[in-house]
Amino acid sequence: MGIFENRKTKLPLWFMRQAGRYHTHYQTFKKQYSFETLCKTPKLACEVTLGPVNEFNFDAAILFSDILFPLERLGMGLSFHPAPTLSSKITKDQDVYSLQPISTPEEFYLFQKKALELIKEKLSPDKTLIGFVGAPFTLYAYACEGGHSGNLLSAKAGLYNGTFAAFSKLIVNELLANMSVQATAPIDAMAIFDTAAGELSLQDYERFVIPINQQLTKNFKKIFPHVKLIYYSKHTNLAYLKKINDNNIDVLGIDWRVNIADAINEFQSQYYIQGNIDPTWLLLPQNHLKHNLDIYMDHTLKKIKNPQKWIFGLGHGVLKETPEENVKFISHYIKNYIFNN
Ligand code: CP3
Repeated sequence: MGIFENRKTKLPLWFMRQAGRYHTHYQTFKKQYSFETLCKTPKLACEVTLGPVNEFNFDAAILFSDILFPLERLGMGLSFHPAPTLSSKITKDQDVYSLQPISTPEEFYLFQKKALELIKEKLSPDKTLIGFVGAPFTLYAYACEGGHSGNLLSAKAGLYNGTFAAFSKLIVNELLANMSVQATAPIDAMAIFDTAAGELSLQDYERFVIPINQQLTKNFKKIFPHVKLIYYSKHTNLAYLKKINDNNIDVLGIDWRVNIADAINEFQSQYYIQGNIDPTWLLLPQNHLKHNLDIYMDHTLKKIKNPQKWIFGLGHGVLKETPEENVKFISHYIKNYIFNN
């Protein structure tokens, strides 16, 4: 449970998409296997997951997989080119009712459970193991557009014409089934990625998305109270984050547009805060990256009362253009950071 333990001098760190195209280790596997094969072959998913943990000394391993597999299980036909493509779309209630699941959740998600078990066997006990799913509205956005999430016209219309309500009934159960299969493996945490949430107005987010997310977190915690829940949203600000107010969430991942010290000060009695370096900083020459980190750390530590509820991370995922040396640099920088207070 490394990233959640009481720690005095160290800031734990892990990044979303820490396993991916920027990394030579991953590229080597990609020469031989497709993305789907890497995800669905437990031994390969385990190797890919552990590559960056071993090389960059991250404090958590996040399962190598994807948020869109539940849509495939439900019968929407998924492929990656590398952008995900679905063979059908959801534009009306009837599309939801006519979905034909292709197997049982236990059979379908077994590749994730097996990968997590293998990772746990190889992972040092001081590191955290994270499973993950996509949040209902984010999956809905992909289901409406048939892949890439576009301008969300159809997804936003669906909030008002009942289609999102129909989809939610199905997807909350599907996600609970998916999370349950993952959580029967020895995971420490489960991340819920809500990439599309911040595309909504604050009013729509509060009215349509938060209640559905709460159903998911509440029901998951009823079965798995020991698994920490991480909720990551993009393009959200402090006003959105304040509306979440969900005691079943343990960690809020925040976007780089939010001031991290404000978020820590606002929420430290309720959540850990993970974030929130702008991923494009990792593309800068190292002197600029170091300068930005010096200021970021200094400003944040001056403003917060204590760093105990802070998990260092990015405001979103590692970009494929990121130089590996910069990932090494930032990990070394944080691991060796001397706290003065
Ligand atoms: O964090 C990790 O190391 C675990 C791996 C991970 C992937 N996808 C692997 C991946 C995680 C946590 C995800 C989550 C995911 N997948 C999200 C939510 C987070 C976010 O990024 O906003 C979303 C929206 C997806 C859907 C998805 N999968 C997209 C949009 C793409 C295409 C990305 C692109 O830039 O082309 C994928 C494919 C994908 N998922 C890749 C990886 C490493 C690239 C595959 C490749 O080309 O080799």
